[in-house]
Amino acid sequence: MSRILVAYATRAGSTKEVSEFIGRVFSEQHIRTDVMPVSSVKSLDGYDGVIVGSAIRAGHLLPEAVNFVKRYQGKLHNLPTAYFVVCLTMEKDTPEHRQEVDAYLNPLTALVQPVSKGLFAGVMDSTKLGFPWKMLMKNTPQGDFRRWDEMRVWAEQAIPLMTKLERA
Ligand SMILES: Cc1cc2nc3c(=O)[nH]c(=O)nc-3n(C[C@H](O)[C@H](O)[C@H](O)COP(=O)(O)O)c2cc1C
Repeated sequence: MSRILVAYATRAGSTKEVSEFIGRVFSEQHIRTDVMPVSSVKSLDGYDGVIVGSAIRAGHLLPEAVNFVKRYQGKLHNLPTAYFVVCLTMEKDTPEHRQEVDAYLNPLTALVQPVSKGLFAGVMDSTKLGFPWKMLMKNTPQGDFRRWDEMRVWAEQAIPLMTKLERA
């Protein structure tokens, strides 16, 4: 039976919730799935595939997500690896936005080529931010823009790419 790790980097929690959702989609297919922050991962031993998710802040992946892939690069080269990002740019799913958000993943794809990339819209609640971000972000669209149906489709298409059984 395959065992998958979903490791995430978040600041405000929306990427954690997306990771848990993706984990549930895998679990529904009876795939053992662990979901945890990248900082809690002590080893990739026993995993057959790894999904790394990160929020985007100021045009960049969170540094701990990049450091995670750097740290485990050797192992990840031999495991199916998928990436996803959660950001506001994907609130509007246009070809231009896809191109922009896809480029956010370049620091990871330069280290390890993924079998799949998920580009997801996230959450913006500037009332929860501290100064100066509260001021800087107050004119950006506010709300929860996550489209769970799209994330489910992405997770379901990733399953055969990530799991031992289907790749055999
Ligand atoms: C301070 C700040 C900067 C952000 N910068 C970007 C950005 O450059 N591009 C983008 O698409 N989304 C940006 N976002 C939106 C976040 O990626 C989005 O809110 C995401 O859901 C946050 O994930 P988290 O809740 O896991 O931290 C920014 C959000 C904040 C609060």
